[in-house]
Amino acid sequence: MAGKILFVCLGNICRSPAAEAVFCSLAPKAQVDSAGTSGWHIGDPPYGPMQKAAKARGYDMSHLKARLFIADDFDQFDLIIGMDDKNLRDIEALRPEGNATPARLFTDYAPGVGMDHVPDPYYTRDFDGALDLIELAAEGLVKEFSTL
Ligand code: 4NP
Repeated sequence: MAGKILFVCLGNICRSPAAEAVFCSLAPKAQVDSAGTSGWHIGDPPYGPMQKAAKARGYDMSHLKARLFIADDFDQFDLIIGMDDKNLRDIEALRPEGNATPARLFTDYAPGVGMDHVPDPYYTRDFDGALDLIELAAEGLVKEFSTL
């Protein structure tokens, strides 16, 4: 059973830190982190409008800082969760030879919703829509890994 979960998106300032915060609130004992496939925002806090939308639902993201996804993450985590196909391709491109850590789409855990990715609110500006989907997927993930 997965113990340590890493959420990954492009910038690590919108979707993956939101996923981290939501999942943490559902499974406080779980070991989670988030990272970005780009280094554009390394060291930055989550994007202001994302933080604001999350805070309105009771999720505090203010302590989080963006970091880059690196090959070593495959050895440090038991499950890697990408927000879209491009994230998964960028994740897989760094997989060390012989490493078998599962890397899955977050929307796989919200199968009833009919979405195959978490739309990026940095571009869509739909922060609440992203949070709705993130909450559903986080609930599905918690159920799948209920021993966390
Ligand atoms: P995220 O969204 O991948 O959900 O963190 C983005 C944040 C920033 C940028 C792109 C996506 N950017 O181009 O700076």
